[in-house]
Amino acid sequence: MPYIRETILTTRSAAGKVHIAPLGIIQDGETWVIAPFRPSTTLANVEETGIAVVNYTDDAKIFAGCLTGRKDWPLADVPDCPVPRLEAALAHDVLEVISVKGDPQRPRFACRVAASGQHRPFQGMNRAKAAVLEAAILVSRLKMLPPEKIEDEIAYLKIAIDKTAGPDEEQAWYWLLEKVIAHLAEVEAERGGS
Ligand SMILES: Cc1cc2nc3c(=O)[nH]c(=O)nc-3n(C[C@H](O)[C@H](O)[C@H](O)COP(=O)(O)O)c2cc1C
Repeated sequence: MPYIRETILTTRSAAGKVHIAPLGIIQDGETWVIAPFRPSTTLANVEETGIAVVNYTDDAKIFAGCLTGRKDWPLADVPDCPVPRLEAALAHDVLEVISVKGDPQRPRFACRVAASGQHRPFQGMNRAKAAVLEAAILVSRLKMLPPEKIEDEIAYLKIAIDKTAGPDEEQAWYWLLEKVIAHLAEVEAERGGS
């Protein structure tokens, strides 16, 4: 299996609108592959401009926020780059597309690192942050998973939240949990109605 970094990607449309989305970037030798599913704004923007900024952040609220309609996070300019970075990024890389492998569902953009920046120190691993990341991925796949699997995963991830979360991780968890509960209620209503 390839190594994947879970990041927040900032991209920009040709018209200039900035978009923020969590995305896993995949290592392939010297290059990093961006593989967004169709349809998505990230995909359209990368196709249009050939540039993305990878934001390395351990801010659980940004991952959870993006999955729950809270996409308005402060941005900062990147020198000589049309795409901004997250103000909260610990570090960033500017990725430039060098080749594209077309696919009707999930094209792959191989990128080179054109520039990098360091902004804040990394202050250590935290189980609650990791649990929020897993829960964010779960939320991005709710429609593909059986409700029992969702309930089991949430129950397991909650252990790390209860034991190690600070206020930011608790907030991020709550945002995701609201979405999970709404989804499970919808499934329950559909089952009841059939
Ligand atoms: C940690 C994490 C990694 C993700 N990686 C991918 C990915 O590699 N490809 C993808 O299409 N979506 C990925 N997603 C889901 C996208 O963030 C989500 O579908 C997003 O809305 C993309 O669509 P957009 O560009 O239209 O906003 C990921 C989500 C999370 C939380």
